[in-house]
Amino acid sequence: MSHTPQSIITQLEQIRVLPILVTDDVDQAIRCVTTLAENGLPAVEITLRTPNAMTVLREVVRACPDVTVGAGTILTAAQLDAVKTSGAAFGISPGITPVLAKAAQESGLPYFPGVGGASDLMLALEHGFHVVKLFPSDVVGSTRMAKALGGPFPEVRFCLTGGVTVEATPALLQQSNVLCVGGSWMCPAGLINSGDWNAIATLAKAAAAAGKA
Ligand code: 3PG
Repeated sequence: MSHTPQSIITQLEQIRVLPILVTDDVDQAIRCVTTLAENGLPAVEITLRTPNAMTVLREVVRACPDVTVGAGTILTAAQLDAVKTSGAAFGISPGITPVLAKAAQESGLPYFPGVGGASDLMLALEHGFHVVKLFPSDVVGSTRMAKALGGPFPEVRFCLTGGVTVEATPALLQQSNVLCVGGSWMCPAGLINSGDWNAIATLAKAAAAAGKA
């Protein structure tokens, strides 16, 4: 499936909740992503935080063609390159650097840099990125930060991640420049490791419902 920044944004406008998966095990990752998709969350971010993450990403992309599988925690241009090669639908970073922003702009991969304030956002806009991850959302002010940044940057939309909960989600999504929220709460490591797919299904359903509330 070919993806564009706009096709990813359109899907996030509908789902409004992006699960963030941290796992080093290919089979568990495929099972988890399948469970999330079957229960209302058909787009997912797989973080590059584990040693085997690139293999996990590649295999999930291959095994789950109907799911929009993106990569998170992209810290370097080399990682961005590897993510593009993996066939992932999009990339996300927790922050932004001039080198990474330039590489992302040139790569053509749908990409959402992370910002923590106005200077980061100005760097993102210089490279054409209008949809950004606000991270860590609960620390930098969440919807208060998004609302404040909406003054000087009315064209920007935010994905709030870091400390987001299912309970907080409906209120966070009411802020007009918040596109979506992201988080790991619907696929916690403990449940993945114990293979409790029923529990993950229940959390996914609740998260998907919170996205529509
Ligand atoms: C991220 O990568 O965006 C965050 O680590 C997700 O935050 P959470 O684990 O608090 O949901």
